[in-house]
Amino acid sequence: MSSSYSSKRIVSVSVLALAIQLLLIHSVLGQDNAFLYHKCSDIEGSFTSKSPYESNLDSLFRHLSYRVPSNGFATSSAGKTPDKVNGLSLCRGDASSSDCGSCLATAVPEIRQRCPNNKAGIIWYDNCFVKYSSTDFFGKIDYENKFYLYNVKNVSDPASFNAQTRALLTDLTKKATAGGNRKLYATGEQSYGEKKLYGLVQCTRDLRSETCKACLDGIIGEIPNCCDGKEGGRVVGGSCNFRYEIYPFVKVA
Ligand SMILES: *[C@@H]1O[C@H](CO)[C@@H](O)[C@H](O)[C@H]1NC(C)=O
Repeated sequence: MSSSYSSKRIVSVSVLALAIQLLLIHSVLGQDNAFLYHKCSDIEGSFTSKSPYESNLDSLFRHLSYRVPSNGFATSSAGKTPDKVNGLSLCRGDASSSDCGSCLATAVPEIRQRCPNNKAGIIWYDNCFVKYSSTDFFGKIDYENKFYLYNVKNVSDPASFNAQTRALLTDLTKKATAGGNRKLYATGEQSYGEKKLYGLVQCTRDLRSETCKACLDGIIGEIPNCCDGKEGGRVVGGSCNFRYEIYPFVKVA
């Protein structure tokens, strides 16, 4: 389905942001394992083939591929400093364990191929993302890795639409971070004129609830940059993400 996407790169402050225009939004429904974006980090340097780092990375990915599908999230570390590698993977909250497993089965070899020697990298699909790094990033908000997606269609009343989008996502943030919701995930809908607005928010589960809230509040604040007056939009990061659309996109189990 990659033919239904066109993309445009924009470079913002220290974030390489990518806006993919969803031209045929409805036909994307059901194509949930679409590749979205990846980034190989140069900051942490590189490793060589057959090095301890590479063997730790492979072991990390095996572990994540095994553990993540059953509950949609896991962190893992392999090896000892200076060859230690840390990683996590998160599946979308509505992905079944088989969708989650098949997403990882695609994502892991793909990131190995796209970032063959980078000590850190991240890859996103619709159903999951996988991140690894030589630094211990667990529990902290990832401000480096982030991109935007939006629907090219404009709404007729951008100011009130943006306000309603923000209100829905802020409400979902409260739900996702309420005590006891350790999935740090929420979806919901609200009326928007005669139509409906649908939303989803999710954080990686290594974050505390308050940190998740801070992450989501931060990206919700980016609505004017990512998707001002657009019928659909997403800010997708390494710690949290949101999506809104004017059509239902969450799978019902
Ligand atoms: C949406 O609005 C922007 C800014 O006014 C304009 O450049 C763009 O062409 C519009 N897109 C569509 C699909 O009408």
